[in-house]
Amino acid sequence: LSFIQPPQVAWASGALADGLLLRKSTRIEDLPDVFADEHARQQLVGEQVVYDVEMLDTSPAEGELYTGVTHLYPGRVGCEYFMTRGHFHARREQGEVYFGLRGTGLLLLQTEQGDARLEKVFAGSVHIIPGFTAHRLINTGEEVLSALAVWPGIAGHDYAALASGFRIRVFEENKTVQAKEVQNG
Ligand code: F6R
Ligand code: ZN
Repeated sequence: LSFIQPPQVAWASGALADGLLLRKSTRIEDLPDVFADEHARQQLVGEQVVYDVEMLDTSPAEGELYTGVTHLYPGRVGCEYFMTRGHFHARREQGEVYFGLRGTGLLLLQTEQGDARLEKVFAGSVHIIPGFTAHRLINTGEEVLSALAVWPGIAGHDYAALASGFRIRVFEENKTVQAKEVQNG
């Protein structure tokens, strides 16, 4: 018998290798109305990538799991740190696990009732995202923030439910990280 070579994640960089990868880049122009300062966002429109997601091309069938790595680049729109769009799962009850691989940032979690909280993300951090909980990564550091995620193939994404924004926004003020509660958006 031969031994199967599985896909690999390089822990230090988060780079995935083999396993039929899918890649998606999200740029500033793909994120209208996501940041508080829409004018500042428009000034940055160009080819700037905010985050890349690499995924293993595995089955989306019920019971199967997806594996992906998000690389969120350092940067700000105005004073607000680069972040992912963020979403609930279309199948609300489905959870997810994130593992911090490199860089420093925050994972913003928000329930359907609107209760929001922030977990620190760093190399080795483990984040249990329960069902019914929206999630967004925020890069508060000066390096790339990379996180490995495992989630159910049937979970899907619902971006519309939070189109008006999460309850917390995170800004750099006086060289420190400041999280602010906002009413809507
Ligand atoms: C999958 C998941 C991550 C995100 C990725 C990009 O359920 O949570 O793989 O999809 O971090 O963020 P979004 O999808 O919010 O643009
Ligand atoms: Zn998710």
